[in-house]
Amino acid sequence: MNIQNKNIVITGAANGIGHALAKRMSEESPKSISLIDIKSSLKEVARSFNADSYIVDVSNEHNFQTILKDIINKNGSIDLFCSNAGIQQFGTLETSTLDWQKNWDVNVMSHIYAAKVLIPHMKKQGSGYLLLTVSAAGLLNMPGAIAYATTKHAAMGLAENLAIMFGNDGIKVSALCPQLVDTDMLKSSGDIPEDHPLLKDGVLSADFVANETIKGINAEKFLILPHKQVKKYIQGKAFDYDSWIEAVKELAP
Ligand SMILES: NC(=O)c1ccc[n+]([C@@H]2O[C@H](COP(=O)([O-])OP(=O)(O)OC[C@H]3O[C@@H](n4cnc5c(N)ncnc54)[C@H](O)[C@@H]3O)[C@@H](O)[C@H]2O)c1
Repeated sequence: MNIQNKNIVITGAANGIGHALAKRMSEESPKSISLIDIKSSLKEVARSFNADSYIVDVSNEHNFQTILKDIINKNGSIDLFCSNAGIQQFGTLETSTLDWQKNWDVNVMSHIYAAKVLIPHMKKQGSGYLLLTVSAAGLLNMPGAIAYATTKHAAMGLAENLAIMFGNDGIKVSALCPQLVDTDMLKSSGDIPEDHPLLKDGVLSADFVANETIKGINAEKFLILPHKQVKKYIQGKAFDYDSWIEAVKELAP
């Protein structure tokens, strides 16, 4: 899909990958850009890209869906929706039920709340594009972050299901699955040991990831992998699940 002259919405746009997507997409002559985040600092970001801003918690079904309907009414359509907002939770069995629920609500349900508004809208207009920012953790797991890894796997399953169910209605879906990206989320992970295997694949800039994402959307690729090595790792996992579990055990903190 070409981004020119499209009405675009990006969630989690105040920082990191969402901010970089907004910057990169604003260079592609879109018709409109609407940015969503829970943080009020979004307003300044939106001003710099001549975009509209909406402060809302994407895990609040009613408020989020109301904003999406308002955006459709204002701009006439949503052509490309980037469902990017996410949270990261570390921990294993000690993760509280409340924290599990928070991860579930932001990392999974927010995409579903959006899809419930956007799929019927896109079906009616005969076209549309959903980009879900998932993570390589949704394909390859993430030791030490059980709620994050589990909810990102659910988000991946959801992206696949939407692509399968609504592809024939002219709706395209992409799942963006990077490994480490240099954002506040990564900084909140604390110091990663220098010899950690993930570091050898590189910490990508959010700008690089945004650029790869545009390329993926232009080519209408379902799986967008800014770290090219991830493809090889998924193939290895599918080839021999037991050996893959043994290898990932080595990464456990
Ligand atoms: N940084 C990484 O290494 C990395 C790797 C793979 C995937 N991801 C994914 O990329 C996406 C963006 O993460 P990032 O690295 O840019 O992180 P970030 O923390 O820099 O940005 C996330 C943004 O989402 C917003 N947000 C969080 N919860 C929200 C809510 N309930 N409602 C509205 N906005 C909310 C935050 O305010 C923030 O602006 C996430 O889905 C994350 O899981 C990140």
